[in-house]
Amino acid sequence: MTTPTKENLTALLEPFDQTHVLQFWDELGADQRAQLASQIEGFDLEQLNKLYNSQDAQSHWGELAAKSSVPPAITLADFADEASFEAAYKTGAQQISAGKVAMIIVAGGQGSRLGFDHPKGMYPIGPISSNSLFQIFIEKVIARAKQFGSTIPLYVMTSPPTHEETIEYLTKENYFGMSPDDVMIFCQGVMPAVDGDGKLLLEEKGKIFVSPDGHGGALLALEKSGALADMKKRGVEHSFYGQIDNPLVQVCDPALLGYHTQSGSEMTSQVVRKNDPFQKVGNVVTSDGKVQIIEYSDLPEENARETNDDGSLRLWAGSIAVHIFKTDFFDRMSQTDGSLPFHRAHKKVAFVDAQGSINKPEQNNAVKFEKFIFDLLPSAKNAIICEVDPADGFNAVKNAPPADAETPDHVRAAISDLHSRWLTECGINVSDGTLVEISPLFAPDSKVLKEKIDADKNFPSKITADTYLQ
Ligand code: UTP
Repeated sequence: MTTPTKENLTALLEPFDQTHVLQFWDELGADQRAQLASQIEGFDLEQLNKLYNSQDAQSHWGELAAKSSVPPAITLADFADEASFEAAYKTGAQQISAGKVAMIIVAGGQGSRLGFDHPKGMYPIGPISSNSLFQIFIEKVIARAKQFGSTIPLYVMTSPPTHEETIEYLTKENYFGMSPDDVMIFCQGVMPAVDGDGKLLLEEKGKIFVSPDGHGGALLALEKSGALADMKKRGVEHSFYGQIDNPLVQVCDPALLGYHTQSGSEMTSQVVRKNDPFQKVGNVVTSDGKVQIIEYSDLPEENARETNDDGSLRLWAGSIAVHIFKTDFFDRMSQTDGSLPFHRAHKKVAFVDAQGSINKPEQNNAVKFEKFIFDLLPSAKNAIICEVDPADGFNAVKNAPPADAETPDHVRAAISDLHSRWLTECGINVSDGTLVEISPLFAPDSKVLKEKIDADKNFPSKITADTYLQ
């Protein structure tokens, strides 16, 4: 294929006032020219122009919050009710046994806050094993499939910055024991960013800066990569969705799946009960029959503080980015134009300036455009939320030490605390300060652990030293 000429490219860029990206054209080699030309031809500059010129939606949040309530919810009390739990568990278990369930992990983020030089999924997080986030997730999938004598296909979303290394890593590790036939790694799309004047930024003289298009990019990427078609071919009806940075995700939990199925929900979201009106989680609300998320930064203080008669928060449900989607719903939404809007995020982006030098800004200088998967909620029929105790299902690796939250050490402690509690609930005495880690292959959840310990007469009644059960 011949590379378009500078004149051809100028004609594409001129209507949008973006010809500055060609300013180093005459210095570029053939490969760089081809790369730059293919970027320019691939962009939807009209859409970008519209996105830049559209203002951040702002003022209606208070109004929406005031008329909103909490969506239909399965609460911890429902999970604690034996009859309700058992019925949901049975329904979910049937779905898994029948091969109707898949797992999606999104791992396309760049993990900039963590500052790890590889895809975040490779981060060693096991408190004793040092197993990576990928290994823990994959072993959870293997264990769940084994529990029900079934197959749970795994779809891993990467992005151009994480794709090659993720494939290399998982291949080298033999997919941690999963059959490669049941793992599909698919890559999400990218979006260019613009500066304060709406101008594209050059990352190199022959390359425009782009970044992954948000976890909402999963919708289009599932469709374009053939992953959605693969789900349909396999008869997958429900997909669990989790983010690679939260190793506490209750992968394909049967009861959660059961409540989702019983409700005829097209999209179910797991939530925590907020312990602070300003907790940094998206607020899941419903208004006029539509479930949606109000970001913590958009929820006005007076609405955040509103309480019920018993003093509890009125808008109590905080999203933890764990969802279950019906395949039909993905299918319908991927055929619907503009089903996910772009959000604007103000970020620091290094760029090549007009003199050809790399400029590393101290302040936010760019607007990035990202889609969020939770924006599918308003379109979902019968959407419900399911409460989880954060100690059981939510602790994500976001920050590098010495941050005071969401660092690897916080997450390791959360894993150990959870597993110690599981053992304690089984009547095992775990000494204070002892680190405990249970491989998902030993037991993917507390119910399986209990069955295993009850059946093992030789299981120690006390744990006094750091222990990895595998
Ligand atoms: P975050 O928004 O927390 O981003 O992603 P991040 O990349 O992990 O970290 P920072 O913000 O750069 O420090 C939440 C989840 O969504 C995935 C991430 O991999 C993570 O699992 N994600 C995010 C994608 O898959 N694609 C994206 O474009 C953005």
